[in-house]
Amino acid sequence: MRVAVFGTGYVGLVTGTCLAEVGHRVTCVDIDRDKIEGLKQGRIPIYEPGLEPMVLANHAAGRLDFDTDAEAVVARADVLMIAVGTPPDEDGSADLSHVLAVARTIGRSLSRPAVVANKSTVPVGTADRVRAAIAAELAARGVAVEFEVVSNPEFLKEGAAVNDCMRPDRIIVGSRNPRAVETMKRLYAPFNRSHERVVVMDERSAELTKYAANAMLATKISFMNEMANIAERVGADIEMVRLGIGSDPRIGYHFIYPGAGYGGSCFPKDVQALERTARQHGYRARILDAVEAVNAEQKSKMFELLARHYGGEAGLRGKVVAVWGLAFKPNTDDMREAPSRTLLAQLWAAGARVRAYDPEAMTEARRLFGGREDLVLCDSPEAALAGADALALVTEWKAFWSPDFALLARALGDKVIVDGRNLYPPDEVEAAGLAYYGIGRGR
Ligand code: UGA
Repeated sequence: MRVAVFGTGYVGLVTGTCLAEVGHRVTCVDIDRDKIEGLKQGRIPIYEPGLEPMVLANHAAGRLDFDTDAEAVVARADVLMIAVGTPPDEDGSADLSHVLAVARTIGRSLSRPAVVANKSTVPVGTADRVRAAIAAELAARGVAVEFEVVSNPEFLKEGAAVNDCMRPDRIIVGSRNPRAVETMKRLYAPFNRSHERVVVMDERSAELTKYAANAMLATKISFMNEMANIAERVGADIEMVRLGIGSDPRIGYHFIYPGAGYGGSCFPKDVQALERTARQHGYRARILDAVEAVNAEQKSKMFELLARHYGGEAGLRGKVVAVWGLAFKPNTDDMREAPSRTLLAQLWAAGARVRAYDPEAMTEARRLFGGREDLVLCDSPEAALAGADALALVTEWKAFWSPDFALLARALGDKVIVDGRNLYPPDEVEAAGLAYYGIGRGR
């Protein structure tokens, strides 16, 4: 099938590439000329494991192309996918201007029957608005072309996006139109060999499914962070509690790791947007409010632990803190809403200096904070320790999993570690002569 994918961000580029990998002819369209030129020359704008070789191979094989000329691409496509960003508006609701701009572009160029599939995370009811925008453009041109709008939300995780896309848990197709459903099933048939993964439902349920999934996952995290805060106060170890409750299959071990708070481009934005949608419909979503509030506080946790060690914020003045990990999670260079940013801002406000290292996010860190006197961006974990008084482990990259604690004890002036991901065994760290602070571990 011929597929046009609008938007070459995480969702668009990964989805387009995976669809090409299974044999479809895909053109990724973006208004950003530099990005499209770069992609044509094999420059991948994001760090995502496994993506680059897949893009290069499919481009070379002629199944994957990149274009800024929407009109020509729309004219050829059977399926048109919208995968552009929906950043938060000032009030937290999702900004649909990019999605609707693509809809209008499609309406201006559509000349043969097609299915328009929306992959962007959009509030309930957006499929209707996309349909109306396309129809208005067609009417203005005075042409009648058959088209269907389908909600087809994406569930990929940054850092595991290619794998998630090639081996989806489920494929949600929101449409009441049997022909559109048939087209989407044909499109996804190669991903569907071992068992039926396509779940068909109405558009609105599909749109809400996406938000409900992210809100549920964010709730698990905030719940565990709340438990960690209770554990800390009552002298329990949340890591033991995690194992204890995860063993119940109804709860499960996945996604119940306490930490420095969730970040990224999805959970913070989607929880807020869903809360906003609920409010617009006259409902106060109290659980969502609490999930967000707990997370906002949790992002200050690492700073609080450091300040506690130093007898208050004032004790951090002039201190040098090594920060391991800047990305919002491992295997990505993305620092959007990352807990590291809260920690850095709080350390700087307290008059501390930072030496930071991240395996992939250094370019992004330079873009965000380059030129600051109180930040040294280092090229290895060891370099970040040089001259540091304390270590803050923010992102659980594999490179940070098994440090030599004796070496850390020698390197750190004040011999203190704040472990924002509960990676390290407290006894071992303390046996090496270091003070250890974790999340909800009573120390
Ligand atoms: C998330 C969802 O997991 C995907 O299913 C979804 O498709 C995606 O959003 C999206 O809407 O596009 P992502 O934001 O890439 O994916 O990252 P996650 O792996 O979900 O992690 C989110 C945050 O939660 C990270 O900051 C991570 O450190 C934190 N987290 C995760 C915890 O603190 N504890 C956990 O147990 C799990």
